[in-house]
Amino acid sequence: MEVVRDVRALQRRADEDRAAGRRIALVPTMGALHAGHLALVAEARRRADVVCVSIYVNPTQFGPGEDLAAYPRTLEADLAACREAGASRVFLPDDAALYPPGAQTVVEVTELAKPLCGAARPVHFRGVATVVTKLLVAARPDVAVFGEKDFQQLALIRRLVRDLGFDVEVVGVPTLREPDGLALSSRNAYLDAAMRGEAPALVRALDAAEGAHAAGERRRDALLAAARAEIAKAPHAEIDYLELRDPGSLAPAPERLAGPTLLALAVRFPARAGSAAGDVRLIDNRVLKESLS
Ligand code: PAJ
Repeated sequence: MEVVRDVRALQRRADEDRAAGRRIALVPTMGALHAGHLALVAEARRRADVVCVSIYVNPTQFGPGEDLAAYPRTLEADLAACREAGASRVFLPDDAALYPPGAQTVVEVTELAKPLCGAARPVHFRGVATVVTKLLVAARPDVAVFGEKDFQQLALIRRLVRDLGFDVEVVGVPTLREPDGLALSSRNAYLDAAMRGEAPALVRALDAAEGAHAAGERRRDALLAAARAEIAKAPHAEIDYLELRDPGSLAPAPERLAGPTLLALAVRFPARAGSAAGDVRLIDNRVLKESLS
């Protein structure tokens, strides 16, 4: 496994691969790798000959007061995990490699960035779109692999690739979960024991709405109420958003659902006196579909 730090060097390696007929997959990450990230690497291996994992904590997608400085950094373990998972290449840029001094070019996906996570984090998706564009330009992949856990991010990247004409296939991978259903996330490391105990409320909320939907409920407000009732059972959890939206356009769902609908939620566990943990915000989602039977 080779470690590449320079954009030009990565482009040259990609050109060599292409000339030799090898397909390249890119798996963008911010490190602190867990089994969810490694599932993306496994999917990338199924779809390409060369798997490039990028590890870069992108400052532009963190707003003021967010967790940039505290974001977990576990480089040695990450490199070992990449090697173990069969990655061929790790792209490890520093800030100057991706944001040359004086950089002033940004990429903005205007509408898809507005609702859900974009409402509470106004600069976040501009940072994501900008850095993913730079990573695609640097790695020159045939396939780029992302998790469905960050559903809005995936929707936005699909649109970005289409709008800018990148010749890359965007692949989504289902969310990997702990045995109790909690979606794996680098930010789970921030949870104290009380928060960790309550965190499965997110997946229970999704399950409750999905159960009601499977039983025939199509009223938007009733489905949202079923989900909200599960979050209410977690005394420290505060809903940031809980919404039903069109999975493609992210437009609000109609009063009666018609067709597949995204249920997306973000829940905040505020810092409490007597605990070392700060505020922790978790997200999860599920697409409610007509049953196949
Ligand atoms: P990061 O949070 O490190 O996530 C990297 C990739 O792993 C994303 O595509 C994310 O959706 C996926 N992922 C995270 N948890 C997952 C889980 N439990 N199951 C499956 N996939 C999971 O997302 C980012 O980094 C950044 O925004 C990035 C795209 C790298 C741009 O900086």
